[in-house]
Amino acid sequence: MSLPLSHPALLAADPELASLVGSEELLQSETLRLIPSENYVSAAVLEASGTVLQNKYSEGYAGRRYYEGQQVIDQVETLAINRAKAVFGAEHANVQPYSGSPANLAVYLAFARPGDTVMGMSLPMGGHLTHGWGVSATGTWFRGVQYGVRQDTGVIDFDQVRGLARKERPKLIFCGGTAVPRTIDFAAFAEIAREVDAVLVADIAHIAGLIAGGAHPSPVPYADVISTTTHKTLRGPRGAMLMSRETHAKAIDKAVFPGLQGGPHNQTTAAIAVALHEAAQPAFRDYARAVVANAKALAGELLARGFDLVSGGTDNHLILMDLTPKEVPGKVAAKALDQAGIVVNYNTVPYDPRKPFDPSGIRIGTPSLTSRGLTTEHMPAVADWIDRGVTAAKSGDEGALTKIRAEVSELMAAYPAPGLPTG
Ligand SMILES: Cc1ncc(COP(=O)(O)O)c(C=O)c1O
Repeated sequence: MSLPLSHPALLAADPELASLVGSEELLQSETLRLIPSENYVSAAVLEASGTVLQNKYSEGYAGRRYYEGQQVIDQVETLAINRAKAVFGAEHANVQPYSGSPANLAVYLAFARPGDTVMGMSLPMGGHLTHGWGVSATGTWFRGVQYGVRQDTGVIDFDQVRGLARKERPKLIFCGGTAVPRTIDFAAFAEIAREVDAVLVADIAHIAGLIAGGAHPSPVPYADVISTTTHKTLRGPRGAMLMSRETHAKAIDKAVFPGLQGGPHNQTTAAIAVALHEAAQPAFRDYARAVVANAKALAGELLARGFDLVSGGTDNHLILMDLTPKEVPGKVAAKALDQAGIVVNYNTVPYDPRKPFDPSGIRIGTPSLTSRGLTTEHMPAVADWIDRGVTAAKSGDEGALTKIRAEVSELMAAYPAPGLPTG
């Protein structure tokens, strides 16, 4: 496959970098991208993120900036905020956080003090680093206590969450995560948070697009604060947002700026606004539903091929596979699948006896392939490729991986990705 050269100004000014961008475009075009935190943004989102809004400094908030010349930027940011509030039904939105991790750090800054106890799902059980895990600043400057999932079911044990919350009385409770294949019960978390007087933070980074599209329940009635990245299922630029009830608006805004950040990335704010506009269209509801339908179909096909899925399947866009029964370490499988043109990430599974850098599982998801238009009809083929790839990883059969790569590339050529040049 080859793609036409795009970005003429870049090509003229810096052919070396232009060629790297071209190579990445080709890679994204001809591979089957199954990393659940990735997606393809639309051409409109890409364009917005490459505009002259990039040139403007605008510390502060609309109508209260520390730099002049904000006649347009104020409108851009206000548009993004209003769209976020409308799409999610939130009372307040801050669209300035640079990414998901700084967004979460701003929540700590707003509601806790160094040394305070905070509670989140442990990283190896599916939580995110920024939910109080030891190696993160959030687990170093705060006292992180962690809940997990039950070993027999792979789902959250609310008796454990409640017991831990009563014992530790955390200031913050995070729900949501980075490898959670099941619906998050925001109401159950809210009940526990209320009982111990904690601020409930719903980190919906992974599922924001599903929530916007009505394919996952919303945390808005339950959570005090909602944190999300904008670049996963929401299909926006790399960025983040914080949403909350009006009562917490001041604390959140103050924590983001001047507490943690300087000037917002206005080109990203613009692209977030575009993504939110797209997420408000009826077609996005179809997309969100299709992401889940594809994930459920793929999970069914993998189970039929003897794969062990954490929690036995999925309710959302994400599947976590324990490859122990296949006798292939996650990293070996991920590297082999990459060679076969199938991009996944190796991942710990709950109660993993192996180390995080060499864990037992792989994590896959359907946001990207659904953006290309693949449907449940394609999932048997996808499962077959994964099955053959994992088998080849075990036997070291390079020829089998090359053959899969050709098959993957052929299918992908028939389903051009949004935002990429077509060859
Ligand atoms: C649940 C969750 N929160 C926060 C983040 C952090 O986002 P970022 O990588 O943009 O800092 C991630 C990223 O994967 C995530 O999955």
